Amino acid sequence: MRAPDSSIQFDENGHLKHFLTVNGLTRKSLVNILDTAESFINFGQREIKKVPLLRGKTLVNLFFEPSTRTRTTFEIAGKRLSADVINLNASRMSTTKGESILDTVRTLEAMHTDLFIVRDKASGAAHLIAAHLPDHIKVINAGDGRHSHPTQAMLDMFTIRQKKPDFSRLKVAIVGDILHSRVARSQIHALNILGVDEVRVIGPRTLIPTEIEKMGVTTTSDLIGGLEGIDVIIMLRIQHERMDGQLIPSEQEYFQRYGLTENKLQLANEDAIVMHPGPINRGLEIASSVADGSRSVILNQVTNGIAVRMSIMAKLMGGQEKRS
Ligand code: CP
Repeated sequence: MRAPDSSIQFDENGHLKHFLTVNGLTRKSLVNILDTAESFINFGQREIKKVPLLRGKTLVNLFFEPSTRTRTTFEIAGKRLSADVINLNASRMSTTKGESILDTVRTLEAMHTDLFIVRDKASGAAHLIAAHLPDHIKVINAGDGRHSHPTQAMLDMFTIRQKKPDFSRLKVAIVGDILHSRVARSQIHALNILGVDEVRVIGPRTLIPTEIEKMGVTTTSDLIGGLEGIDVIIMLRIQHERMDGQLIPSEQEYFQRYGLTENKLQLANEDAIVMHPGPINRGLEIASSVADGSRSVILNQVTNGIAVRMSIMAKLMGGQEKRS
């Protein structure tokens, strides 16, 4: 798979025009997004959970794949910024009648929309849409195929920073179905840009992409040895819907070798945190006692998604974020 061109997300002055991938962004830019999210994090506890930053703007949630967390937190984030938010349901859209995704987008553009949040099963879908829109309309990638899920990576970085502020000291393990994971690819880019000590990718050989070491990670198929010295454990969902053929043995065997249990968690550093982007397959990649345990920050990730998505939307619509 060739990665879509990341330069499309900047205008000729180096301002961030769209948010399509973490790849190509600078450390300063990522830290800036995280710092701005910090200013939005307590909004949920306010009596009036709104600021007028996007008042008068129309945001369209254009999701051609199922989503609970991403779609809902984008909707809440947009509403907290005072935007008008339209949610389109893929099963009711004209694409089911044969209309192309670009014709659907052009139709919505004719209604004077300002921002599209796009999820699609095809890698590069958000890039394609961004390339065909006039300059004043922005696009955020909410997950494209196996390629990229940049806002998920940013909310994950925010969650890590809350618990472990010094990225330079961190060893992070990403465990499970790396092959099909857009989340893992975006996390690897973000962790390396933020300067972590090590990103260790752990999973069965069948689920680790060839040449992933070129992304600046170490790999192992041994979870027991691989958890040693780890500060952050990111568990990934087994993505049955993207698998061609039998890539794991039985689910029982997978859980036995790669499922995170309380016993295996003891092998990591004693203050290691456990993350999962969701949706979770309990008893397949993670035991319920770990997912619901004291080291888990899985629900913090969900909550933080609102502030981080507010930050990214505010920056895009404000037009001030520079490449460096
Ligand atoms: N993490 C994530 O993308 O979850 P959803 O599919 O529920 O949006």
